[in-house]
Amino acid sequence: MSNDAAGPVAEANRVHIFDTTLRDGEQSPGISLNVQEKVEIAQQLARLNVDVIEAGFPITSPGDSEAVEAIARGVEGPVICGLARTHKADIDAAWGAIKDSPHPRIHTFISTSDIHIEHQLQTTREDVKGQAKAAVALAKSYCEDVEFSPMDATRAEIEFTAEVCAIAVAEGATVINVPDTVGYTTPAEYMEYFRRLYELVPGLDAVRVSVHCHDDLGLAVANSYAGLLAGARQVECAVNGIGERAGNCSLEEIVMLLRTRRDEHGLDTSLNARELARSSRLVSRLTGYGVPPNKAVVGRNAFAHESGIHQDGVLKERSTYEIMDATEVGLDSNSIVLGKHSGRHALKDALEELGFKVEGNALNQAFKRFKAVADKKKQVTALDLEAIVSDEIRESSDAYALTSFEVEDGSDRDPRAQVTVTTPDGESSSAESSGDGPVDAIFSAIQRAAGAECELREYRVGAVTGGDDALGEVTVTLRANGRLSSGQGVATSILEASARAYVRALSNALEGAAIREAEDATAEGAREPTPGP
Ligand code: KIV
Ligand code: ZN
Repeated sequence: MSNDAAGPVAEANRVHIFDTTLRDGEQSPGISLNVQEKVEIAQQLARLNVDVIEAGFPITSPGDSEAVEAIARGVEGPVICGLARTHKADIDAAWGAIKDSPHPRIHTFISTSDIHIEHQLQTTREDVKGQAKAAVALAKSYCEDVEFSPMDATRAEIEFTAEVCAIAVAEGATVINVPDTVGYTTPAEYMEYFRRLYELVPGLDAVRVSVHCHDDLGLAVANSYAGLLAGARQVECAVNGIGERAGNCSLEEIVMLLRTRRDEHGLDTSLNARELARSSRLVSRLTGYGVPPNKAVVGRNAFAHESGIHQDGVLKERSTYEIMDATEVGLDSNSIVLGKHSGRHALKDALEELGFKVEGNALNQAFKRFKAVADKKKQVTALDLEAIVSDEIRESSDAYALTSFEVEDGSDRDPRAQVTVTTPDGESSSAESSGDGPVDAIFSAIQRAAGAECELREYRVGAVTGGDDALGEVTVTLRANGRLSSGQGVATSILEASARAYVRALSNALEGAAIREAEDATAEGAREPTPGP
């Protein structure tokens, strides 16, 4: 723990971090992570030292199930959790996917609010009680660690929610989570909810109580904090606060709130906060959800001082205008520097220091890419390496690949691009196109070469580091078959980064379509909607 002055926190005051980036976070519109990307994020979450990774909702698709299984087998340290409705098929699928983890957990949920019971579930309170009982009992027959959530609890009658929670505790649930599913509650109200729940549910103080708050009114972190002050010791959160609609409680914000104001409440986590910035960058890169510059804790400006008075104060004494240290959250991670003469060994060592184990052909590819960048940049930093390597890792699993591109442009001619891509069946396909600008020309040429039908919805350009030789990072969001799909690309040239990002977005769209086809086939059998909670 980086808050050395305070030392390790007593177990009774330790808040468990339940990360749901890969489940609730992945339900954000336009995000479609493939198995490899999910494993990469899970590995980073393990480095961050979260207590629980909710790796997915296995019944929803074979792709999700495969990812949860891969994480359960390959990611060491945290508890690996799979989500399930109260249906037997869901619980069986969740168990099937997590059973190889040394620390598996099944998380089952059913709504307790009358709005959901009447309109969504179209059933009765009695049936909800029966379903909760059967689900926890079945999950418990597979797995010692079982979490139960009364969905939409904060809009439900507390006495009924308490009855359902009491049933879950009696059946052996080890964690009771109280979701503010639609981000409706307020800190004072949520605190009072917990006070009453502890009164009404026998044995609640013997299990772990958890908070799960959505950010529809911008209160997810404040409400989660209120729940922790009221006795909960698990917080469900997501990196960069991604999640359904306005998102979930932001992991980095709640963690740094607990750490920075430990003097006030005595609570803390076991998180390795120095991995926060990197986790944020990785999730942003793979999901296409950018981090606003003013985002608390991990935004580019979170530690930047603009006004002269503030700059003057910080130069004299950092604490005049800073309540945290940028190094504490890993925002200073530019310590590794390689030059153009660095060899394969130096690259391998630097990557290992960054937590990437890259060997064999992957190392050769990464080295080739590193050399190309090092020829154009004076110094290649840790941030550059991280960007190049995650780009390279993803490229190896993309359906389409960019083979080459050329662009002609000038003040006296229309932009024209020529591209060659490798298609999913391994064929090489070339096409040419003009466009309103060079990027537009490249995009339409790629679209032609790939034979894809899609529409560009968003195009964002950023820089991996500062400096005039910085690597460019581009995010492209496309609409294909009625769905959004994003891709990112990194290169010293913005045109190349754009082409890479577009090709990756096409690959992700194709993968998303394949997953949905498989989901439809699964749903044929089940004939019940799998709601996105
Ligand atoms: O928001 C919600 O209620 C959920 C549950 C599955 C915990 O995500
Ligand atoms: Zn949720």
